[in-house]
Amino acid sequence: MPPRGWLLSGWALLPVRAFLAFTFLFAGFQKIANPSFFNSSARSSLHAQMIGYISLSPIKVVLEHLLEHSTLLAWVIALGEVAVGTGMALGLWTRVAAIGGLLISLSLFLAVSFNDTPWYTGADIVFLFAFVPFVIAGSGGVLSLDGWIARHAAHEHQLDDPLMVVVPFAEVQRVCGFYKDPKCTAIKNRLCAPAGCPYLEGVRPSLPAGRKPDEIDRRSVVIGGVTAAAAAAAGLVIVSGVAIAGRLVGGSGGSGGTQVTLPSTTGTGGGSSNGTAIGAAADVPVGKAASFTLASANDEPGLVAQPTKGQFVAFSAICPHEGCIVGWSASSPEIFSCPCHGSVFSVSNGAYISGPAPRGLTPLTVTDTDGQLYVKE
Ligand code: FES
Repeated sequence: MPPRGWLLSGWALLPVRAFLAFTFLFAGFQKIANPSFFNSSARSSLHAQMIGYISLSPIKVVLEHLLEHSTLLAWVIALGEVAVGTGMALGLWTRVAAIGGLLISLSLFLAVSFNDTPWYTGADIVFLFAFVPFVIAGSGGVLSLDGWIARHAAHEHQLDDPLMVVVPFAEVQRVCGFYKDPKCTAIKNRLCAPAGCPYLEGVRPSLPAGRKPDEIDRRSVVIGGVTAAAAAAAGLVIVSGVAIAGRLVGGSGGSGGTQVTLPSTTGTGGGSSNGTAIGAAADVPVGKAASFTLASANDEPGLVAQPTKGQFVAFSAICPHEGCIVGWSASSPEIFSCPCHGSVFSVSNGAYISGPAPRGLTPLTVTDTDGQLYVKE
């Protein structure tokens, strides 16, 4: 790499930077506008999703410890995504933002998409590597506050624009003054070539004596810090507005918006040989489905349906693909669908119909005893 060679990468990386900025801002604000994501008792909460991920993730032990702090973790993820998206969009502290995006993507890869088959079909691993060039090169000074700050700091110290301009070597020879075909007259017995050229390899000879390059970097850090604080304050106002708007309109309840949640879902059903009581059979009319959670099984989410009169079926709601929570909607009463990657399952027997899931839903034994539904794992 030539001196400050990373500055050459800015324009080439701009489309990727724009995509990462848009995606992370969208993902962060989408979560902030959805109160259910932070409500650990909601089906579409991070808490519910983590329960699904735990059984398949290689960092199962970490997720189990984080489960009790899922609301705090949900805010950290949502605000982290907004911060990464803002940094990438403004080109402000771009390397810091890229490290943040890389860590979020790595966490999602280990927690969610580690078991994708084939492995290269998962998005998180692609996001992870998409951030690497920005960790190395930053914004490259292109359409970025980092670039503006660097130029401003250099200007304050009466230095040239710090950005790099590519010049053909033949042009350097033409204006050099020491080039006499094919020799360098400044260094005895040396042919003129980029390697060994005292100007190209020297210590920035355009700097006048007494000037300290480190001062520019210190100045850049100060200006960058003030700008980042201002961006964080503005972001906080926008995030608060989005969060309030999301709560006013009610947010999203996930793919099962018309799905009933059984009122006695947290019962342990203690004492019954039939299993865990999950609610009244009357709450699951013919042709409809309802969700429940099994407190006796670490709040594992389940689905119960009555496809035909008097015939109840129940399944684990954990998608066998990557552990998202599968839902049901009255608009498509014959299928359960997964909101994450679109796997579809039959309501009548939980069988796999389409999508990336490798198999159908795990069946649970359900019985109707005197109008009360019981589930056995
Ligand atoms: S988790 Fe991927 S389809 Fe359900």
